[in-house]
Amino acid sequence: MLEKRDYVDKIIKKAIKQTEKYKDIGELASYIPELANVNPDSFAFCLVTVDGEVFSYGESEKIFSIQSISKILSLIMALHDNDPISVFDKVGSEPTSYEFNSLVPITDKATNPFINAGAMTTASMVKGANVDEKFERILAYYKKLSSFEDAYLIKDIYESEMETTDRNRAIAYYLKSKDIFSDNPNDVLDLYIRNCSIATNVCALAKTGAVLANKGYKPKTKEKLLSKKEVQIIVSQMATCGMYENSGRYLMEVGIPSKSGVSGGILGVVPGVCGLGVYCPRIDKSGNSVRGIELFKILAKDLGFTIFIN
Ligand code: DON
Repeated sequence: MLEKRDYVDKIIKKAIKQTEKYKDIGELASYIPELANVNPDSFAFCLVTVDGEVFSYGESEKIFSIQSISKILSLIMALHDNDPISVFDKVGSEPTSYEFNSLVPITDKATNPFINAGAMTTASMVKGANVDEKFERILAYYKKLSSFEDAYLIKDIYESEMETTDRNRAIAYYLKSKDIFSDNPNDVLDLYIRNCSIATNVCALAKTGAVLANKGYKPKTKEKLLSKKEVQIIVSQMATCGMYENSGRYLMEVGIPSKSGVSGGILGVVPGVCGLGVYCPRIDKSGNSVRGIELFKILAKDLGFTIFIN
């Protein structure tokens, strides 16, 4: 076991070193002012196996907002609260070549649950008497899934995004006009932005990934958190739609089902093996962490994580 641990540790350390050349490439997401208020050179990585073994590197306890990785959470909660057929009546399941906050991929419904319009749709399907109750349910579920009991709403991020979220407000009103939901669009938007503002760190992401990699069971405690059907839906949507308009290219070059966020986090799932979490806040034009992608690319090759080659 120690031998294997040493081997994995050595490969990861080498991969991290190899990605140092990307550390100045990309920009911070400044369209949400508070997101630009971070150290651009921060770096953290965590891998958690399906047996619960943890490998962590860099600033692995550093808190950042989960941003679009929360789109996984609202899809999970929508699936818990509704049957999959009614969820996918309201939101599509196909990739898109448009950016995450585009209005274009909404014709009858949002193209997939991992663009903003799709995540607002799934958020509108979460049960609860009001926004507070819905958000509390989502946050409580994330605490369980990620084993990050201290997860909370980052108030500064939430307020900063609420002040600058005109495009998302337009999306929420447009969805209402299409009868995707009957709720007040401002409430759906509020819940969506709260979800994006949840505090996380790379180990919480990797632990969430490990549950998805472990057929929905929490490593070690074996608590069942997701059905096999839910795992299949979430991981397949991550593979085809998780990296926005770069999803096809990423799947071809990296081959790890993943979901990114504009704060610079990526959550990866290697089915049957492990969950991955990376944080490096410089992002590319699509909103994906530049160094994070390069790290996953090397690990996919050196540790055999590509799902298509086994
Ligand atoms: O809606 C937004 O613009 C952000 N709260 C989330 C976007 C995001 O993370 C897209 N990411 N890659």
